[in-house]
Amino acid sequence: MSKNRIVVVTDIGSSKVTTLVADIDEVDGLHIIGWGESPSNGIEKGVITNPNELVKSVRESLSLAENSSGFRITTTVVNISGQHIDFKVEIEGLSFQNQSKEIDENDIAFLIEKVSEKVPKDISSILHILPKKYLLDDELVLEPIGLIGSKLDVEFNIVTTKLNVFNNLKKVVESTGVEIIDFVVNPIASAMSVLFEEEKDLGIVCVDIGASLSDIAIYKNGNLEYLRSLPLGGNLITKDIAYRFRISKEVAESIKKQLGMSSVEFIESEESIDIPTREDGESVRINRYELVETIEWRLSEILEIVRKEIEKTGLYERLNAGIVITGGVANTPYIQEFAQKVLDKEVRIGKPKGYKGFSDKFSYPDFATGIGMLQFVKTYKLVNREFSKSRNQGNLNISEMVNRFFDKIKELF
Ligand SMILES: Nc1ncnc2c1ncn2[C@@H]1O[C@H](COP(=O)(O)OP(=O)(O)OP(=O)(O)O)[C@@H](O)[C@H]1O
Ligand SMILES: [Mg+2]
Repeated sequence: MSKNRIVVVTDIGSSKVTTLVADIDEVDGLHIIGWGESPSNGIEKGVITNPNELVKSVRESLSLAENSSGFRITTTVVNISGQHIDFKVEIEGLSFQNQSKEIDENDIAFLIEKVSEKVPKDISSILHILPKKYLLDDELVLEPIGLIGSKLDVEFNIVTTKLNVFNNLKKVVESTGVEIIDFVVNPIASAMSVLFEEEKDLGIVCVDIGASLSDIAIYKNGNLEYLRSLPLGGNLITKDIAYRFRISKEVAESIKKQLGMSSVEFIESEESIDIPTREDGESVRINRYELVETIEWRLSEILEIVRKEIEKTGLYERLNAGIVITGGVANTPYIQEFAQKVLDKEVRIGKPKGYKGFSDKFSYPDFATGIGMLQFVKTYKLVNREFSKSRNQGNLNISEMVNRFFDKIKELF
């Protein structure tokens, strides 16, 4: 018999706050049953700039999602991103006196506990501790539980954030009266909704370019190898347009979406348009070539910086599946062709997959993080967790971790 549960996630971006209510059915998958979207205010580059404004945005998004789903929201899972996110790989090991010990959940729990001690809890908060590789008696194994060995070493991906940033976000969101049951870091969430497993094996980067952040996650041989959030996004393009044509950001944002393109090479008609300015109904004449040129300059700079970031990791040459671009900026016409040139790799646009319900609304790159958060919750079974009492393990707390291992083992046999 299949088990159902309702899960709520809230993607707090710098342009919009999206709350998704989904029914997760272990057999049948993920059904979106309601959603709410509000304009986001009070957060920029993953840092709260105005708590009162942000509370209003979050409250509106939650309330719209309640109305749309008919479900009363008391808990949610929230995303987190920004330059304050840190990614590390750590190895922890255990040797057993008994030369042929059967590895069990306690051994893994012990190693998670041990590796979490390496994080300075007074300044950082653990978001994820994700086991990456298991070496049993120096041999690589996919799943150690149930196997016999004398020594176990585990390589972990550890994602942390600054304690104050974390506490501020928690405080602000929870002042709506809704409890946060967990956090998911953006780059992992977006990658979960747009990448295919075979791409992760071959080597791929997921780049989610939003309004103020570019979230990067690199996968190779099925493993997450690197993640980073850069303070770059579509707001920079909008600001350039506003500045060049002396128009308000609101007008600039609107003409960018209506008439923008990633590069002047794709322009077919070079018309000029009259745009009313904000003050007195007077209009300003904007030449389309100049508009697209402005977009191209900033977009190429963003993509160049992303490319350098990937190159720095030493993984650029090993990306046999290329690069996936998602996030709102991925809607820019011809960005695939343009990014392919700048990044010198095969590029595809990442659209969220693996869910049912409201597909007309959510099959756009803007929703990669939100849909990915639901998939993260589904995969790691983050639900009904006593969040505030057991925060120190990141979202793989020991009992969940152990359940996950048992579930995985059940799937294998
Ligand atoms: N058709 C379009 N053409 C160009 N840019 C677009 C288009 N649609 C959306 N964008 C841009 O995408 C950005 C919003 O993307 P998204 O919704 O992914 O951001 P966010 O999640 O709110 O922000 P962040 O994750 O950076 O905090 C804005 O800068 C917006 O101008
Ligand atoms: Mg976003």
